[in-house]
Formats: sequence, structure tokens, C-alpha cells
Amino acid sequence: MEVVIAKNYDEMSKIATNIIRDQILKKPNSVLGLATGGTPVGTYKELVRMHKQEGLDFSKVITFNLDEYLGIPDDHPERYMNFMKSNLFNQINIRPDAIHVPTNIWEHVEEFCQWYEDEIDKAGGIDLQLLGIGPDGHIAFNEPTSSFASRTRVKTLDESTIKANARFFNNDESKVPKYAVTMGVGTILEAKTLLLLANGKKKAGIVAQFIEGPITSMITASALQLHPKPIVVLDEDSASDLKLKDYFKWVYSNKPKKYLEEQ
Ligand code: F6R
Repeated sequence: MEVVIAKNYDEMSKIATNIIRDQILKKPNSVLGLATGGTPVGTYKELVRMHKQEGLDFSKVITFNLDEYLGIPDDHPERYMNFMKSNLFNQINIRPDAIHVPTNIWEHVEEFCQWYEDEIDKAGGIDLQLLGIGPDGHIAFNEPTSSFASRTRVKTLDESTIKANARFFNNDESKVPKYAVTMGVGTILEAKTLLLLANGKKKAGIVAQFIEGPITSMITASALQLHPKPIVVLDEDSASDLKLKDYFKWVYSNKPKKYLEEQ
């Protein structure tokens, strides 16, 4: 696993954006998997800046978001489709028909989940999947004990996730939807590159566990240890509990020039 430790949130966002930019430059019709939540906001800001100031072209890019709340009203600002529109899609030149975010409605949800998996396949699979990590170690909404073979499906959110996400719902836990549609761990592991971001002291414990601890479905992010190309970009705070912190810094600063140029 490649672990990059940035000085702070802004540097973490810049490193992540450069990786995404390089993916798009290498393959203009890249299929990107996207995440919501607080962590990637700086990355989306920087991608928008690159589009506006440097002409980064999204016209051939296809996107699939990881998850969506079930039962959230269409016009709710925390509906992930709306979050993505305001933070990214409305500010870049992506084709509307290239955007995929899971459904927010219960009707035909199982058929939807199969359709979503089929669309990812039809697009040729995900080239680069952006991820955050929840306080319980989840990736997407794959809560503890989610099967590593799981596919897109309905999940009930863990109470710790509801608590953590209440900050987006006026700190009112009763307003946080209890269910979501989420890509499975198996779906995520099929992406060619995984790019997980984490920042802040609150994430330090879980970050150390998923990188340095055992592979366990109790922490679904630990499934990254099974992936051929996982990249983790952290800020100093979220990296603070890592035993191998100095090793990761040493490896990154001694990365062969060829690879540094590629990034
Ligand atoms: C969101 C998602 C979640 C978040 C995680 C961290 O699409 O898939 O797994 O990445 O809950 O959220 P933040 O970034 O708000 O700490």
C-alpha cells in the first residue's frame, strides 16, 4: 500500500487532485468513482480550479458515485446527487449523461442496484476510485461485517455513522437517513486504482488500524490491503497513530524519479 503523508488538509487535497488529473490526462475517457462527505471537498475545489484555470477537460470522463441516502428528498442539499452538483459537476464540463449517482428512492431499488453494477461493467470498469473512511472504518457505506464480496445493495447505517453525519443535518441525528444504497466492497476492489483520503485527529486511530492492523470485515477499509494498487493520502493529524509513519515518509521521499514524474 502506498501511504503518502501530507503536511495538512490543503496539501492532501492537492496531492489527490494531481493523481486524478494525471489519470484524466493519461486516459481522457477515464471512469472515475467518486465519494462525498467532508474529506473530498478540497479535492473537488482544486479539480474545479484546474478545469477553469488550466483547462482540465472532463468532456469524456464518466463518473460513478459510491453511495446515496435512501428516502432523502430530491431537493435536499445533502442528497449526494445535489452535493456532487454543487461541489463539482455544475462547475466542470462533464456530460450530464456521464454522471451516475445511486438512486435515493426505494421503488425498484434492487433492480436499480443490478443496473448500477451493469453500467459500471458497460463503461469498462472504474479506473480510479476516490474513497473516504468513516469513524467505524467503513468505505462507501460498507459498515462493519460487510462481506468483502458484497456488491451494490441497500445497507442500514451504523449508529456511529448516523452520529458522525448529523453534522450535515443541523446536528439532528433523527434527520439523518438510516438507509443507503452503496457500492459493495467487492465492487470497490475491482477498480483499477483506489485513492483513499483521510484527515484530522479523529481519524488517526482507525487509519492506523486499517493500514497496519489485520484484514477484517470489522473495518472494511482494511480490504485495501487486498488491492493491487491502493494509494492512501493522509494529513499529519490522521497519520499520527501510524507505527510506520517515518517509514512511509522515507519511502515517499525516496520514490524513484520515474514514478515521481508520473505523479
Ligand atoms: C461518502 C462515503 C463515506 C465517507 C465517510 C467519511 O460517499 O462513501 O464512506 O467517505 O463516511 O466521511 P467524511 O469525509 O465526511 O469524514
